[in-house]
Amino acid sequence: MVPKLFTPIQLGGITLPNRIVVSPMCQYQADDGCMNDWHLVHLGHLSYGGAGLMMIEATHVTREGRITHGCAGIYSEHNEAAMARVIQACRRLSRNPIGIQLAHAGRKGSSQVPWEGREWLRPDQSPWQTVAPSPIPFGEGWHTPHELSVSEIRSQVEAFVAATVRSKRIGFDVVELHSAHGYLLHQFLSPLSNQRKDAYGANRMKFPLEVAAAVRETWPKDRALGARISAHDFADGGLGPDDAVAYAKELKRIGFDYVCVSSGGISPAARPAIAPRYQVPLAAAVKKASGIVVQAVGMIVDPHQAGAIVADGHADCVALARGFLDDPRWVWHAAAALGTDAVYPPQYLRARPEHWPGAALTPHRPTPERS
Ligand SMILES: Cc1cc2nc3c(=O)[nH]c(=O)nc-3n(C[C@H](O)[C@H](O)[C@H](O)COP(=O)(O)O)c2cc1C
Repeated sequence: MVPKLFTPIQLGGITLPNRIVVSPMCQYQADDGCMNDWHLVHLGHLSYGGAGLMMIEATHVTREGRITHGCAGIYSEHNEAAMARVIQACRRLSRNPIGIQLAHAGRKGSSQVPWEGREWLRPDQSPWQTVAPSPIPFGEGWHTPHELSVSEIRSQVEAFVAATVRSKRIGFDVVELHSAHGYLLHQFLSPLSNQRKDAYGANRMKFPLEVAAAVRETWPKDRALGARISAHDFADGGLGPDDAVAYAKELKRIGFDYVCVSSGGISPAARPAIAPRYQVPLAAAVKKASGIVVQAVGMIVDPHQAGAIVADGHADCVALARGFLDDPRWVWHAAAALGTDAVYPPQYLRARPEHWPGAALTPHRPTPERS
């Protein structure tokens, strides 16, 4: 019998051929938001690795909404053309669905790329003014964000809509709103970052749900729409799983097809105890209480573990990030480990387990002496 992990699933109007998702991963390599050859090679490789859905990195809806100078954007026609070139190339390599994660970094913008410090940009590093629900910095030393006025909030909603229109033109199958990891939508949701006295503070879901409704209106129903949410702030006075359930229910009511359940990111001090499958209980809680399709993510690496998360009903799909950086062929190796078939491009068919000389291969990787 085919393991459930390798069975198709319907997400809104599209069908994923299996339940394995390439999690969105910033590459910090773009030129003023434009993707380039790095993204072509990085995504090209991942696109024919057999994942049921390949999500591309957090792509920012405004220039000041980028996390770093190297982050991808979708705020100009140059961004759109550069991204279309990369996605069209991936389409020639694989028929599997491809999704875009739309994001705005809010007060976490204007920061250094991870390998240059991951802190706020210093005066000689071309920093920019960040924006947020309240003028509360992300952490000590970080830039104080400008508090968005109501009319500026409306402009942000429009920026998400414009980005959705561009995503449609590029031909993505999935749009995912980045509503996690302490970025702008999450900043509105969390009482730690939203201390507004107006309607956007009284109802902290107001702005994210306005964005969600406007994007739902714009994005075709025959494709899929989802959101990544942080189901725990891991900080005193922050959000917890019940808040995530309430938010997921609202997204479902608006017509969202799935949520990917992550956690953390609202403050540098707040860190979960990271261990294998540590966010799976959060995903299971959101799935059970909201009834929406759920992706689990976070330290899911072992194929048997991934198979069990789906087979046992904790989540409908699993998303992997570092697992795919380490092994872009994770899906093929997981299929071998779980005793099922994966789809290889014909050029790579001779890498299938049965084509290796000698009988005994390790469950999902040829031993070095046979390679
Ligand atoms: C290099 C890298 C870049 C990431 N960029 C994003 C991103 O753009 N959007 C996002 O929601 N999460 C991002 N993440 C988080 C991952 O998608 C994922 O949730 C996290 O790494 C946990 O999964 P893992 O244990 O399989 O790596 C990134 C992670 C890595 C390692």
